[in-house]
Amino acid sequence: MADRQLHKFDAVVIGSGLAGLRAAVSLSREYNTAVVTKVFPTRSHSGAAQGGIAASLGNIDDDNWEYHMFDTVKGSDYLGDQDAIEILVRQAPDVVYDLEHLGVPFSRTKDGLIAQRKFGGHTLNFGEKAALRACYSSDYTGHVLLHTLYENSLKNHIRFFSEFDVLDLIIEDDVCKGCVAWDIRNGGLHVFHARAVVMGTGGYGRAFKITSNAHANTGDGLGLVLRNGLPLQDLEFVQFHPTGLWKQGILVTEGARGEGGYLKNRDGERFMERYTPTLMELAPRDVVARSMQTEIDEGRGIDGKDYIHLDITHLGKERIMERLPQIHDLAFNFSGIDCFKEPIPIQPTAHYSMGGIPVDNGCHVVKNGKLERITGLYAAGECSCVSVHGANRLGTNSLLEATTFGRIAGRSARADLSNIDFSDLPKNPRARAQAEVDWFLKANGSRKVADIRADLQETMTARCGVFRNEADLKKQLDHVRELQEMFKEISIDDKGKVMNSDLMEAIELGHLLEFSEVIVSGALGRRESRGAHFRKDFPKRDDDNWLKHTLAWRKPGGGVEFDWRPVIITRFQPMERKY
Ligand code: FUM
Repeated sequence: MADRQLHKFDAVVIGSGLAGLRAAVSLSREYNTAVVTKVFPTRSHSGAAQGGIAASLGNIDDDNWEYHMFDTVKGSDYLGDQDAIEILVRQAPDVVYDLEHLGVPFSRTKDGLIAQRKFGGHTLNFGEKAALRACYSSDYTGHVLLHTLYENSLKNHIRFFSEFDVLDLIIEDDVCKGCVAWDIRNGGLHVFHARAVVMGTGGYGRAFKITSNAHANTGDGLGLVLRNGLPLQDLEFVQFHPTGLWKQGILVTEGARGEGGYLKNRDGERFMERYTPTLMELAPRDVVARSMQTEIDEGRGIDGKDYIHLDITHLGKERIMERLPQIHDLAFNFSGIDCFKEPIPIQPTAHYSMGGIPVDNGCHVVKNGKLERITGLYAAGECSCVSVHGANRLGTNSLLEATTFGRIAGRSARADLSNIDFSDLPKNPRARAQAEVDWFLKANGSRKVADIRADLQETMTARCGVFRNEADLKKQLDHVRELQEMFKEISIDDKGKVMNSDLMEAIELGHLLEFSEVIVSGALGRRESRGAHFRKDFPKRDDDNWLKHTLAWRKPGGGVEFDWRPVIITRFQPMERKY
């Protein structure tokens, strides 16, 4: 009898955010392509991106790709690989025009060109003054990009398996042959047999208490890679966006500062003048988040509490509603603030993972520092590390990276597919996933998934946040390991198979606990400060010892094993990073 839960496609894309969909649109031009996604595609977290996508179009000022490259390299605190960065910034204008031609409704200048605004760390003439480089669609840029790519996916007859959670990759002898996924709505394990698998599984902000990330962002792709004996790269670099809504963490776009918003402390002072007098509020995110956290830690938060004010009242109602309508609504709905009249309470929020699954410049997943590939496996977007962001990403370079390297992943897979045949599946490809589901559905211990998750999030924010130190990191590493032990004693109340959110949350927590150990171990090991990783006990960047990428594997018996690989430097030698 035919196995109705066995599917065969040339290419399977895991994840339906911008990177995944862009890869799928490219692949579907030649190949039978499916997208397997934990959420309905237009619910993917890329849709929450607000402020813009970077490209040196020069529609308003005299921009060019070399300025963009310099800013990205400097923003990365010199940890970004410059060959990959050059690909990113050189392709950026073409990528944006390609998206425009696919149907993205960008905001316009009065001459009808794609509108561009300022964003942190983007400058003209190698740091002279702020550049207008972020192409935007009011403050719904991620939303319109996602919807446009989804519409194009439907046009190209891509097959969607929505609400399917991938539990395993099928890899044998360094060849990826597909994946195994749990059908969330109906229950049951499905096998996707493919010649090419592209991972676009997004970020992991849900390892932290205060985060701008959606509930679905539990870094599942990272867990899958670790379980298959593959490494993660540079996971210690976690970006804290300066302006999350206080207590909620919801993103308040940097575009608000790009449009002229101010950051103020309890004395009403624009304190960025003391930290970065040239770029002020438009310094890169790591710098602004640290400045804000310092104000808070030294008692200059609003009313002495753990938040700062973002003031856009002077922009006026008309400009706010034209350029920042979503911010108006978010501030009102989640904080009860009328941003025409009052400042918005904000605090740093876990936003983005600079590290991820190591890939070469063609998005092939690699298994070591020698860049040896896993045949048929690709990754792009936030789950991957190519590495264009190094130790700190500039705002709007994420949508650019997802669409540029999503397209590259699709093109690489297309090129490779002419030489890759279907390989035979292992005898029982579901075995490991089945054992995992069976274990969860029988789990009757004394611990609750929600308690362990809340504990992890609370302690990751407290001990592995904007500022870090050895004592806290050691404590947190021990604690994550304790939580991993507690996880073995969980209970799952819902024993059913249909829409079992208990089961899903347990699976996600398993991933969170695995890669959090890698984040903390990496942060403990890296005894320097670089980009978003700031060690109070090692406050200086140390190029002699640490100008290198971290590769981390999960050891079979527990613990993390490290190796390192050199940073690729082509045009810009590391310099002191002043703004
Ligand atoms: O602030 C923002 O709109 C976020 C953009 C980004 O993370 O690139």
